[in-house]
Amino acid sequence: MRLDVVPDNVLERLVMLMGIVPTPMVQVSWGMAGASTIIAGSRLGVFEALADGELSALDLAARLDTHPLATETLLNALCGFGCVDRRDGRYRNSALAAKWLAPGSKDSLHDAVLLLGLLQDGFADLDQVVRTGKILDWHHGDHGPELWGPYLRGLGKLAKLPAGELARRVKLGPGARRLLDVGGGHGQWSAAFCARYPELCAEVLDLPPAVPVGEAIVAQAGMADRVRYRAGDLRTAGWGEGWDCVLIFNVIHNLSPEECQAAAQRARTALKPGGRLVILEAEHRHVRDRINQAGAFAEIMCFMTSGTRAYPEATMRGWVEAAGFSGIKTWRPRFGPYMVVIEATA
Ligand SMILES: C[S@@+](CC[C@H](N)C(=O)[O-])C[C@H]1O[C@@H](n2cnc3c(N)ncnc32)[C@H](O)[C@@H]1O
Repeated sequence: MRLDVVPDNVLERLVMLMGIVPTPMVQVSWGMAGASTIIAGSRLGVFEALADGELSALDLAARLDTHPLATETLLNALCGFGCVDRRDGRYRNSALAAKWLAPGSKDSLHDAVLLLGLLQDGFADLDQVVRTGKILDWHHGDHGPELWGPYLRGLGKLAKLPAGELARRVKLGPGARRLLDVGGGHGQWSAAFCARYPELCAEVLDLPPAVPVGEAIVAQAGMADRVRYRAGDLRTAGWGEGWDCVLIFNVIHNLSPEECQAAAQRARTALKPGGRLVILEAEHRHVRDRINQAGAFAEIMCFMTSGTRAYPEATMRGWVEAAGFSGIKTWRPRFGPYMVVIEATA
């Protein structure tokens, strides 16, 4: 899946074929404006307000306490980017916005857009990050609930899309009772596995500021009795022992190669014989030196937030092999075009 500059008519197709369209300008202008307007609309509560029915720009501005003309221009821009429909001077959520952006919708990714807003703030300084190598350091920097709240709530919403598929395809033994979710953050993966295996209880091991946020998300999902939290740094805290399953989901890209190898070894020691290690991770994937857009996003996002990178599947598999696991298999979930799952048995 990719974003592209797509001609709207025959003339545009022709000039594109002639190679005289400055496509990087189109990508920068419309990509930047599209992302910014959707994030601003979400932050301001536009999609929430329009979920109650259509409004004029003036009425919306009064409701959101925003500048009337600026509100109208934002709405018109959102029309252009497919999130709002305009009829007779009144505005309503488009079908896409009603499904994905309105906070109250069952499929809402509102929290994930707020998370992307945090990332976008970081992307604004990307040239400085590259110049100096000084990263945002989301996990170990001095950040409070203003980061951890949107971060984990956003990831929790994104996890819901593939959680069912993961819990269905990863086969745990019928008697599986104890799952350790390393860096489990929002706890939604644990919750999905607990829903699939009625005897299962999970422990999420995560950094101290993540714990209260994760606990609140899990409580809201009604899973607090099955998914518990323990605060600790996965690199130094004990992982316990006798687990039926260890999940390491979207955490490897926060670690250096040495820390990844150590994590695989810790998982091996923490699992009981026959227990399952499951890694879900963004993959550094290239075909003849070409990296696709999903891979590009993963690559730069990992560096900016953690100073690390997306690793190739073979590298991650190598850490699992070196830790002494057997029956290693790799597969790619249907949701998440750049994600890879590595399963192995202790
Ligand atoms: C990208 S999030 C992934 C969250 C969740 N596992 C998922 O797949 O959506 C990375 C998680 O790892 C946690 N994490 C990062 N470094 C950690 C460390 N050194 N010790 C414990 N947790 C860590 C973060 O707090 C965060 O919850």
